[in-house]
Amino acid sequence: MKNLLVEMQQWVRQYIKSFYTDDADIQENIIRKEEHTDYVVKISGELAKYLNLNEHDILLAKMIGLFHDIGRFHQYTVYRTFNDRISVNHALYGLSIIKDLPLLKRLDQEDLQVFKFAIANHNAININESGNEREVFFAKIIRDADKLDIYRVLEPLIMPDDGSEYSPIFVQGFLKGEQCDFAHMKTTADRKLVRLLWMYNINFSWTMQKLIERKYADEIIKKLPNNEITKKGEAVLRAYMTKKAKGF
Ligand SMILES: [Fe+2]
Repeated sequence: MKNLLVEMQQWVRQYIKSFYTDDADIQENIIRKEEHTDYVVKISGELAKYLNLNEHDILLAKMIGLFHDIGRFHQYTVYRTFNDRISVNHALYGLSIIKDLPLLKRLDQEDLQVFKFAIANHNAININESGNEREVFFAKIIRDADKLDIYRVLEPLIMPDDGSEYSPIFVQGFLKGEQCDFAHMKTTADRKLVRLLWMYNINFSWTMQKLIERKYADEIIKKLPNNEITKKGEAVLRAYMTKKAKGF
């Protein structure tokens, strides 16, 4: 399993390099996703260790991290966007790219199913209910690892308050303490809120502790409209985050 991960890392490295280009915009985005992949592998391993998984399963979690965004490179090169709604579902697209990869055939059947399920579900609004316990567990790991690193990537890109308001459906979600469907996103304020409310989708206390330590929520909240809704929603969110970080 250890050697397999090393070989997979070499393959992914080469695969990503094949997208390197003189086009500055594409190159920048390929590099951004390459770095994201490296971080997500690392975070997946740390989280799996924290969860007391055995060595085999820690390696499996890292493999899932390694391939979770493999569809991104082709997606950006062809469509020049990471927006799945106007291009392709990058998770399923990624799985179709690697479906005949000989390295994957070296995983046993059960691990391969877990691997595919976790990747297919890493970007869904919710994890598909068809998954068995082990599949869902690994999907939760990649979803947390991915979000923790996405907050790092997004932090410098969060737009300052531009005076826009929240759409009504987002106000509801914010005050109730729920995730919002980004399909309803209309304003800059909505966009920031969608990101903030991913906090409600974090699975493990370890991830929440890291998110709090790194102050990602604070940075977004600072840039939200300065009004009563933000104050109330923030209080609901902070209470939730504190509880979640303690393991409730
Ligand atoms: Fe992804």
